[in-house]
Amino acid sequence: MASPSSDTPAFFISGNFVSTPVLGELEILEDHLLAVNAQGFIAALCPLSSPKAASLLASAEGNEIEHTELPKHSFLLPTFTDLHLHAPQFLYAGTGLDLPLMVWLEKFAFRAEERLDGDEDLAKLVYERLGRRMIECGTGSGLIFGTINPKTNLILASTFLSLGLRAYIGKLSMDQNSSPTYIEPTPSDSLASASSFINSMRSLTSSLPPHRRLVHPVLTPRFVPTCSDELLEGLGELAKKEGVRVQSHMSEARDQVDWVKETRGTGDVEVFERCCLLNSSTTQAHCTFLPQPTIDHLAELGTSIAHCPLSNAYFSSQIFPLRECLDAYIPVGLGSDIAGGYQLDLQVQMRQAVVVARLRDSQVKEDELARREQEGSTSDDETKDLRVSWKESLYLATRGGAMALNENRVGGRFAVGEAFDGQLIQLVDPGTSRGTGSLDFFDLEVGVEGEGALTFEQMMERWWCNGDGRNRKGVWVQGRRLM
Ligand code: GUN
Ligand code: FE
Repeated sequence: MASPSSDTPAFFISGNFVSTPVLGELEILEDHLLAVNAQGFIAALCPLSSPKAASLLASAEGNEIEHTELPKHSFLLPTFTDLHLHAPQFLYAGTGLDLPLMVWLEKFAFRAEERLDGDEDLAKLVYERLGRRMIECGTGSGLIFGTINPKTNLILASTFLSLGLRAYIGKLSMDQNSSPTYIEPTPSDSLASASSFINSMRSLTSSLPPHRRLVHPVLTPRFVPTCSDELLEGLGELAKKEGVRVQSHMSEARDQVDWVKETRGTGDVEVFERCCLLNSSTTQAHCTFLPQPTIDHLAELGTSIAHCPLSNAYFSSQIFPLRECLDAYIPVGLGSDIAGGYQLDLQVQMRQAVVVARLRDSQVKEDELARREQEGSTSDDETKDLRVSWKESLYLATRGGAMALNENRVGGRFAVGEAFDGQLIQLVDPGTSRGTGSLDFFDLEVGVEGEGALTFEQMMERWWCNGDGRNRKGVWVQGRRLM
C-alpha cells in the first residue's frame, strides 16, 4: 500500500492557535483549522471559514478522521522547550539550596548522579516520573544533562522515547575535580565512553522511521573545572566528526569564574572556544558573567544560551544580561536547571525571567542616577530599557528554545511543514463558564460584552500570571497525544 502523502490529514483540531513566531509578538489565530499528517507534521493551518478548510473537511468525510473542536476560551500553544535540566538531579529537586554552588555540587549533584549510575531501578523510577511531570507541565522537549555511565543515559533515552518526548540527552564527561568515586579516570576513557554513547543512541532509534527518532545524543562536558584540556579538545573533535550538538555550563557563578581564571589563566569562553566547543551547535547554560564584548563575540559564533533565572537567583550573584543577548540576536531559551532551580514548570521560569530582568533594569537605573549625582552630571540621557515583557518570555519558552536547538522542522510555532508540538490551555470551563483552575474572569461571569470586555490577549496575560497545570488539557509531541 502506498504511504499517505505528507499533506494527507491524519487528524484535525479547530479553535484558537496562539504562538510567538517573532520575539515580543503574539500571533492569535482565532477559529482556525489545523490538519496534522500521519508523521506528526502540520499539513495545513487555515481559517475555519476558508474554502481550503471546507475542502479539507469535505475530502475527509467518510474517512473517520478525528476532529477535535476546542471550546471558545481555549487555545493551542506550542509546547515548552526546557533548554537546560539535569535529569538525575530530579531525585532531590528542592534540597540544600542555601549552599554555595561548589559545595552544593559535591554534596547533592554528584551524589545523586552517582546513585542513579549504580541503581538501574532507581534510574528508571526517577526518569519515568520526570518525563511524566514534564508532560504535565507542557514541556515537550528538553536539552538534558544525564550522568557519566552511558547505560544510565540509555535508560533515560528509552524512557523518554516510550513516553513520546523529544529529548537531547547528554552523557556527562568529566575527568577531574569531581569526587574520587564519581569521575572518569582519564581523558581517553572519557572520550571512548562519549563515543560509544553516541553509537548506542543511534542504534536505539535506527529501526524507527525518521519522524519517530525523537531522542538525540549530545556531548556534555560538565563545565570547564571538571574537564581537562585534553578531554575538551577531544570532545571538540568528536562533535565535529559525529555532527552532534554540545552543551555545558559557562560563566555561571563568581567562585566558578574565579576558579577557571586561577587554574587555566583565561576565562571559560576562551577555553571552550580554543577547544572548538563554542559554535552554532553549542548551547551554554547560565552565562550570567558576560561583558558586552563577549556577548557580541558569542553572537558571531552562533552559540545559544539557556537562561535559568530561578537557578541563577540561588547560585549566581549576577543576573543574566538577557536584553543585551536578545539585542545581539543570540538564540536564547529558558531552562529549569533542575535541580539548581527547584521548579520543572517553565511557566515559573517565564515569570522569573520577567521579574529578574525588571529588578536588573531598576538597579542599573538607580546606579546610574547615583553615579550622575556623585559626579554632578546634568545628563538626562535615558538608560537602556533592560526589562522583558511576558510575551517575550513566552517566545523564550517556546520558539526561542526550539530555535536554540536548531533542528530542521521543529520551530516552536505553528507552521505548515513543521512538527506539531502543542499544548491545549483552557481559560474558562465550558460547562460552568467560570475561570478554570486558579483563574477568575468576573467580567465574563457578570456578562460584560463589547467595549470594556476582556480581550483574548488580556485573558492570556492573566493565564501567564496566574495559570497552572489545571489549565492544561492536552499535550502533543510530533503529532502524538501524550496527555
Ligand atoms: N555547574 C557544573 N555542574 C553544575 C550543575 O549540576 N548544576 C549547576 N547549576 N551548575 C553546574
Ligand atoms: Fe545546570
